[in-house]
Amino acid sequence: MRMTISVGVFFGGASVEHEVSIISAMQAINNFDRIKYDVFPVYISKDWKMYIGNSLSEIRAYRDIPSLLKKSLRVTAVREKGRVLLMRYPIKKFRSNIVRTIDVAFPVGHGTSMEDGVLQGYLKSLSLPFVGCDVTASAVGMDKYITKVLLRDAGLPVLDCHKVPARSFFKDKAQVIKEILDKFKFPVVVKPLNLGSSVGISVGNDESELKDGLEGAFYYTNTALVEPAVQNLKEINCAVLGDSEFAMSSECEEPILSQDVLGYDDKYSGGAKDGGAKGMVSAKRKLPADITQEQRDKIRSFAGRAFQALGCCGVARVDFLLDGRSGEIWVNELNTIPGSLSFYLWEAVGMPYKELLDMIIELALKRERDETGVVHSFDTNILSNFSDTGAKGLKR
Ligand SMILES: Nc1ncnc2c1ncn2[C@@H]1O[C@H](COP(=O)(O)OP(=O)(O)O)[C@@H](O)[C@H]1O
Ligand SMILES: [Mg+2]
Repeated sequence: MRMTISVGVFFGGASVEHEVSIISAMQAINNFDRIKYDVFPVYISKDWKMYIGNSLSEIRAYRDIPSLLKKSLRVTAVREKGRVLLMRYPIKKFRSNIVRTIDVAFPVGHGTSMEDGVLQGYLKSLSLPFVGCDVTASAVGMDKYITKVLLRDAGLPVLDCHKVPARSFFKDKAQVIKEILDKFKFPVVVKPLNLGSSVGISVGNDESELKDGLEGAFYYTNTALVEPAVQNLKEINCAVLGDSEFAMSSECEEPILSQDVLGYDDKYSGGAKDGGAKGMVSAKRKLPADITQEQRDKIRSFAGRAFQALGCCGVARVDFLLDGRSGEIWVNELNTIPGSLSFYLWEAVGMPYKELLDMIIELALKRERDETGVVHSFDTNILSNFSDTGAKGLKR
């Protein structure tokens, strides 16, 4: 008989998308197969403390986080005898401080510290198998510039861009604006290199808007990207499930715009009734997207290639920009932990959420099996070859 697998869903974190992550995590927790999995929430506060406890599974409890945390237990993770233990912190004398064990971690957080390789590196240092992209793919997916470079290298269409460090901008604004105008015509889009949910994004129609846009972006980030604004904009998103061996694409959706640039409110509050708890699911969208069969095929194939070009694992969502008139398509960005894990895009191709969760846990365990086959430490100690006369055996 198969034992139940203990899955900790890690969410929250030091991110502007903290609240969105809570919603995504609650949805995931509620959809797990309880026979196969012992699933529990691991909440990470904005100051990066870890908590567990029953109340953390109730979305309503997050209306008052300080009192929720009083009812919860702060823990720290420790690797001991081949298992990862969650221990009470601070520890209490004369009693067991082990609260529970954990087999697989499931990061369901968006943005900084959760989706960018930080949490993934922490889990990796514990040798705890985890769901989704590894450290490198997570870090790459969070950096819009490096993402473009890799996608272009894989032969995928991306918009040209100009990278602007805050330091150069504040040193010589006129020069930076000139460099941008040498490259692009208005309108342009200004965006932070590494945030999500449209935070800090603006459209510049002239020099003064461009300047304001850059100043606004530098409020959130040290580096901004400027790229041409796509005309007759149509946005299409397509999720991908898989790893380096296989990748399958979901249905395509078309999020509906209500402003120039799709904002936080559009994405997460469209149609939500109970404080946004269903925000991402009921956000305004056309599903399936209103595109031709040929466009759909192309986007689904580009999505799979983009996913593998970045070395993604689990489920990721690839977002595209289209010029609705010319039909041109560009890959815009990859979300390595998409809102709601894009479950609705999989339901649309006949895969229930439960099954999606099953597949991504399987992929995490598969990666673990593949990686434990790789040698990480050597029995011989290279330092034992070290002598005063040289560093024989050391890597040059
Ligand atoms: N080059 C562009 N042309 C037109 N609109 C854009 C462009 N880049 C981004 N946008 C708009 O801004 C939104 C957010 O930009 P995106 O690059 O997806 O950043 P985020 O990580 O914040 O989602 C997009 O969904 C789209 O509506
Ligand atoms: Mg986006």
